[in-house]
Amino acid sequence: MKPIKRIGILTGGGDAPGLNAVIRAVVRCALSRGWDIYGIREGFEGLLNPGMVQKLNLEDVSGILRLGGTILGTTNRGNPFQQPVSSGTKATKTVDRSDLVVKNFKRLKLDALVAVGGDGSLTIAQKLFEKGIPIVGIPKTIDNDLSETVVTFGFDTAVSTATDALDKLHSTAQSHQRVMCVEVMGRYAGWIALHSGIAGGANVILIPEIPFRMDPVCRKVEERYNHGPRFAILICAEGAIPYGGQMVTTGEKEVGREHPHLGGIADFVAKEIQKKTGRESRSLVLGHLQRGGEPTTFDRLLATRLGVGAVELIEAGKFGQMTALQPPHIVPVSIKKAISKMKKVPLDSDVIRAARSLGISFGDES
Ligand code: F6P
Repeated sequence: MKPIKRIGILTGGGDAPGLNAVIRAVVRCALSRGWDIYGIREGFEGLLNPGMVQKLNLEDVSGILRLGGTILGTTNRGNPFQQPVSSGTKATKTVDRSDLVVKNFKRLKLDALVAVGGDGSLTIAQKLFEKGIPIVGIPKTIDNDLSETVVTFGFDTAVSTATDALDKLHSTAQSHQRVMCVEVMGRYAGWIALHSGIAGGANVILIPEIPFRMDPVCRKVEERYNHGPRFAILICAEGAIPYGGQMVTTGEKEVGREHPHLGGIADFVAKEIQKKTGRESRSLVLGHLQRGGEPTTFDRLLATRLGVGAVELIEAGKFGQMTALQPPHIVPVSIKKAISKMKKVPLDSDVIRAARSLGISFGDES
């Protein structure tokens, strides 16, 4: 195996708390092995423009462990296989510029690349690996929807933020005897809504894995008014689906983006409740608050362990692999396998069972 001398690292897709902790871990481990390490700015976009590459030293990562965001920047439009081409002000089609990425990788004389990302960025990483770039992956996403790892970093912080919001909403909902519907992120998986909904004492949790009907939702709300505290808290995953209906999006998918923007389901549910029960209802969207701020202790530790594991994979020449948490260990798994299937909330999970036992409605009760 060729000895490792220079490696690169990039962060791709939506940011997640813990990215800086990963960068710090990878940089420190690489430097301690005598390797040079280069930070590639704005995800794979930085490999299309070698001017976006900078050498990283210990000082560059000093003090970043607890910071949200990513010092390298990121984008969810940087897919080199589908680069948007504009005619006028609007992108209308895409072109494949992945050969340029391979060329620039060689020009930079890098021996390996660490790609930190969710399913989108790791899919790009896998395709570049198949084109000959020695890549290792690190799983990141607040959505927690990546297979082969029990949890991704960023998820715990997002759940804490959403739980904190539910705590705060309780008092105002109670004061005004209102129904509060909170929308959280998670894309096509309900992990954030489920975990923060239970931890934050929600009465109704709506997730994409369980299509809902308004009747049981309204029944639960009425139960709270007729036999209880006269307010209700609902949490809706942005991808929650009304039975027989569709996910609510805010518009058409942009060219060069993998997914449409989801949003609007909490507003829909709040309006339906007000119409059907007459109870005063309000909705709010937590949005990008869930991606910001300091990572929790759990996410800092997980990100650090995954980062160290990635450097060990490079050292062992195990490319096309990513680090994953399979408690109690950090283990290598194939990127191809991890991206082959989205990790959704299993309907037979003890967490769903626990929620049902507590009387939480998922909107599917008869
Ligand atoms: O994948 C992370 C995520 O935050 C999703 O939960 C959400 O649907 C999406 O990204 C939002 O993307 P953007 O930052 O482009 O609005």
